[in-house]
Amino acid sequence: MNAVLVVGATGTVGGLAARALHRQGAAVALAGRNAERLADRSLLPDDCPRRAFDAYDLDGCETLAPWAARSLGFLDRVVVAVGVAGFGRAEDVDEAAAEHLMTVNALAPMAVVRGALPLLGAGAAVAVVTGRVVDAPPQGMADYAAAKTALAAWLGVVGREQRSRGVRVVDVRLPHLEGGFAARAVTGSPPKLPPGADPAAAVERHLLAPLAGAPGSPHGALPGTPGAPQL
Ligand SMILES: NC(=O)c1ccc[n+]([C@@H]2O[C@H](COP(=O)([O-])OP(=O)(O)OC[C@H]3O[C@@H](n4cnc5c(N)ncnc54)[C@H](OP(=O)(O)O)[C@@H]3O)[C@@H](O)[C@H]2O)c1
Repeated sequence: MNAVLVVGATGTVGGLAARALHRQGAAVALAGRNAERLADRSLLPDDCPRRAFDAYDLDGCETLAPWAARSLGFLDRVVVAVGVAGFGRAEDVDEAAAEHLMTVNALAPMAVVRGALPLLGAGAAVAVVTGRVVDAPPQGMADYAAAKTALAAWLGVVGREQRSRGVRVVDVRLPHLEGGFAARAVTGSPPKLPPGADPAAAVERHLLAPLAGAPGSPHGALPGTPGAPQL
């Protein structure tokens, strides 16, 4: 049985991952910002330990894995699916929004993983959601793309560092999904985006399969409109 921490369990991707892992028999610890959604037993499995956190509290982010390991007895999987979009030309993004985008999309996921690594042993795996934006950053998303690209670079190095310990680090470069993520942007309005992929299928293919060690596709060839912006 796996023991999994899902950070961002209150979101579309995190919720799908948490419910699927729970259905598969994993022990799951849930972390999310929105206390109401986190507590909602019709949304997230009933029998899971829960903890509220905010990405701006980086020390708190670092304590999530130790909390999950204490709650579940051990920890061998971590899923990080926190993020927020932001749109607009670079000169139109104010300091507060720029800091917000870098904190939620890069510094907080890094802090969660930093807190988890000392607890993970051989065979453990970490999956962190970045996005296709890393491969093709479009105009009008400089800050969001920069944060995701920083996270992806960090994960790549950490993955190489952890290989000798037998800990896998998966950079999950999801395509644009249906689900309203772009509409919840902290600043600006989204450009015209291609039709989003089905979230459940994308989470299965790009997150859960590689997390389980299957030769899945965290960022392999994806359907979509060539040249269309991706998040
Ligand atoms: N959806 C897409 O099209 C798409 C495409 C590529 C990559 N991604 C990436 O996939 C990840 C999940 O996206 P999603 O579609 O599931 O979006 P979502 O439904 O909006 O979920 C975002 C998650 O991030 C959490 N979050 C946002 N700000 C936070 C903060 N300040 N402190 C703590 N948690 C915070 C939200 O918490 P609350 O709900 O509790 O506030 C929620 O759990 C993100 O990293 C996103 O960049 C998404």
